[in-house]
Amino acid sequence: MSNLLIALVLTLLSICGSNSFALYQDDWQLGNFTKQDSVNPVLLPLNTTTFFCPVRREFVYWEKKDVFNPTALVRDGKIHLLYRAEDDVGIFAGTSRIGLAISEDGLTFQREPLPIFYPDNDIATEYEWEGGCEDPRIVEYNGTYYMTYTAYDGTVARLLVASSPNLRSWTKHGPLFGRAQNGTYLDLWSKSGAIVTELQDEKFVAKQINGKFWMYWGDTNIYAATSDNLVDWTPITDNENGGETEYNLTAVFGPRRGMFDSDLVEPGPQAFIREGGILLIYNSRNRNPSDGGDPALPEGTYSAGQVLLNATNPTQLINRSEEYFMTPDRDYEIIGQVNNVVFVEGLVSYKNSWYLYYGTADSKIAVAAI
Ligand SMILES: *[C@@H]1O[C@H](CO)[C@@H](O)[C@H](O)[C@H]1NC(C)=O
Ligand SMILES: *[C@@H]1O[C@H](CO)[C@@H](O)[C@H](O)[C@H]1NC(C)=O
Ligand SMILES: *[C@@H]1O[C@H](CO)[C@@H](O)[C@H](O)[C@H]1NC(C)=O
Ligand SMILES: *[C@@H]1O[C@H](CO)[C@@H](O)[C@H](O)[C@H]1NC(C)=O
Ligand SMILES: *[C@@H]1O[C@H](CO)[C@@H](O)[C@H](O)[C@H]1NC(C)=O
Ligand SMILES: *[C@@H]1O[C@H](CO)[C@@H](O)[C@H](O)[C@H]1NC(C)=O
Ligand SMILES: *[C@@H]1O[C@H](CO)[C@@H](O)[C@H](O)[C@H]1NC(C)=O
Repeated sequence: MSNLLIALVLTLLSICGSNSFALYQDDWQLGNFTKQDSVNPVLLPLNTTTFFCPVRREFVYWEKKDVFNPTALVRDGKIHLLYRAEDDVGIFAGTSRIGLAISEDGLTFQREPLPIFYPDNDIATEYEWEGGCEDPRIVEYNGTYYMTYTAYDGTVARLLVASSPNLRSWTKHGPLFGRAQNGTYLDLWSKSGAIVTELQDEKFVAKQINGKFWMYWGDTNIYAATSDNLVDWTPITDNENGGETEYNLTAVFGPRRGMFDSDLVEPGPQAFIREGGILLIYNSRNRNPSDGGDPALPEGTYSAGQVLLNATNPTQLINRSEEYFMTPDRDYEIIGQVNNVVFVEGLVSYKNSWYLYYGTADSKIAVAAI
């Protein structure tokens, strides 16, 4: 190779940056994801695995009813999928626990027979029982995994946090907004905590911005919060102008009338910093088409979009997709516990590909890949 050619190749590599294998749509969006029809759905409910529930003091078929909404990460060179599984007993006919499945190709999984995270007789029982532990999202920092998840007590859904050195033994820290301002936010309805990270090799590592960790959360608008330690979080509020809720929460962005995301927006996987800003993949729901919804989608359809936020000012939106990049159009995405849902939540960068894992109709799990 001539020196000129080498220089050209090096220049091209540096322009592409550290994620040189990723294809970005129109510069900033992550794409194109293709649903992997030959293996989908990759995880189904199982009616053979039992677990002795320490709260109920009975054996339950812990993943019999539905499996959905997984987080994903790479550990020891393998994809670890931590997924929500529902049993079929109790007042909700479905307490949620979190199971583990491991893959070396992104497409086929070895499942563990027991849940790795579940309601127990501990500091979190009052928040987790008996709806359970839902919708996990995991990031790493300094050799520790931090998992945000939704605990549901039957009245209020709250974001809780737990940490682990190995995904097997966990320390529960309780409601992540529970300690801020002397408990002001203890009963705040909160879901879907996506912490801002930076991709280091195949790990999504929590990244401080202006001396704080950041998280996007919410299931109406998308709100923000900051933390010094990844365990205690404080929502960003606007008390001067009085926010739109009793808590004066500052909306980072909200639904858009007439579009696929007209009814609500909710974070997808962990957010991550890339050239140009923070990329957040989000879930959204459509309104009734005759009342401000996208006329091309049924009412209640969950589709996924992307936003780019300012990496030095994380509440500032820089760009937003005009179209969804994923919407329900396979039979198992259209019919299930909740019809017409793709809910994206697990994103990994693995062996030069991207894999996006998502819940389908709140019943099964599927994968799309770049
Ligand atoms: C937003 O992204 C689109 C491509 O998705 C691009 O055409 C547009 O110029 C961007 N807008 C801004 C303000 O950067
Ligand atoms: C992504 O998909 C769009 C629409 O299907 C297509 O126009 C575009 O060329 C694709 N981009 C890449 C990088 O494959
Ligand atoms: C268990 O699941 C299998 C496969 O989905 C199904 O064929 C079978 O009828 C189920 N058995 C019970 C007892 O639910
Ligand atoms: C990282 O972990 C080590 C060992 O657990 C601890 O001593 C150190 O304070 C941690 N550093 C940060 C920045 O959290
Ligand atoms: C915090 O709340 C407790 C219990 O409501 C109260 O006794 C205490 O005075 C409060 N502390 C502050 C600093 O407001
Ligand atoms: C919301 O803001 C108003 C002032 O606009 C303030 O009086 C109130 O205490 C705030 N609420 C909370 C929960 O901080
Ligand atoms: C991001 O925020 C910084 C600090 O507020 C500002 O200087 C910069 O112009 C913003 N970038 C964009 C693209 O808006």
